Amino acid sequence: MEDKKKIILSGIQPTGVITLGNYIGAVKNWKQMQEQFDCIYFIADLHALTVKREPQEFRQTALGFFAQYLAMGLDPEKSILYFQSHVHQHAELQWILNCNTYVGETARMTQFKDKSQKHADNINMGLMDYPVLMAADILLFQTDLVPVGIDQKQHLELARDIAIRFNNRYGETFTVPDAYIPNLGAKINSLQDPTSKMSKSDPDPNAYVSVIDDEATIIKKFKRAVTDSGNEICVREDKPGISNLITIYAAIEDKSVSEVESEFSSCSGYGAFKLAVGEAVAAKFRPIREDYQRYVKDKGYLEQVAKSGAERAAYLAEKTLRKVKKRVGLISF
Ligand code: TYM
Repeated sequence: MEDKKKIILSGIQPTGVITLGNYIGAVKNWKQMQEQFDCIYFIADLHALTVKREPQEFRQTALGFFAQYLAMGLDPEKSILYFQSHVHQHAELQWILNCNTYVGETARMTQFKDKSQKHADNINMGLMDYPVLMAADILLFQTDLVPVGIDQKQHLELARDIAIRFNNRYGETFTVPDAYIPNLGAKINSLQDPTSKMSKSDPDPNAYVSVIDDEATIIKKFKRAVTDSGNEICVREDKPGISNLITIYAAIEDKSVSEVESEFSSCSGYGAFKLAVGEAVAAKFRPIREDYQRYVKDKGYLEQVAKSGAERAAYLAEKTLRKVKKRVGLISF
């Protein structure tokens, strides 16, 4: 008998821009996984509502992100691509999982604490319940592997705990998922503060690179990247700036860190190295930007892909949801 293919699932919140960090930490792997596995990639638009959004701008960002999914090489012939809000089973499963998750478990999440501090005037229920929706996303599809950056590790652990608890209480229902965190690039740091994560909503646009930035902008941002003292090009704890740039270059060029270190061992200085990294990233993103410009104009096509993705996702999701409802004792006629 043929082995069943593993199920892969992941998503991005449509806020700000899709960054080089999102690309290296997540999407680059999503793209490769399409060749081997059954992949499901969605736009996590419900998650994005946990922070106040201007509706018109939010709609545009979400649609733009969907066009960027296609431009980055996510292929609707190979993967299921859709908007989370188009598949109501996500929110429905979340409710049932809520009733099997303790407040203390979500309140201790690092991201909840950080976001509560950042948005002190809007610590809404959704912000705290965010990881339970994420668990619902994952468990709804009997997902085996979740390709994410290191910042999502804690949420993944909670999803596993919820799955195990539910299975123990009601009988085997959910596959217990594993995180897939890349060895290289699980946390790409800010170009302006290389000790903190590159974030898509950083107020300083020089801190991140967007996958659709033009070449001159990308190169300019790398030229301005904050580096360290000295002139050696190597990964070392006291060199967060250069270490970050080496990681970026290695991930973009599919090389190991030591290959990159030796490639630049006789480099004349940080300036030349920063330029080389900028040029490599700009070359990698050029086709993404060009394809994005084509896709984003074709609303009819985006709609068609999203609708068919949502139908396929809903069909799979309903199978799990029906089982879950039965397990917890809800009546079905
Ligand atoms: P989000 O939108 O913050 O980020 C999307 C993905 O990009 C990764 N990432 C990074 N990786 C490396 N370096 C960085 N600087 C960097 N910044 C972000 C994130 O780890 C993530 O993989 N909660 C999720 C979205 C989500 C989800 C899910 C993910 C909702 N439901 C179910 C997986 C499964 C989030 O906010 O990711």
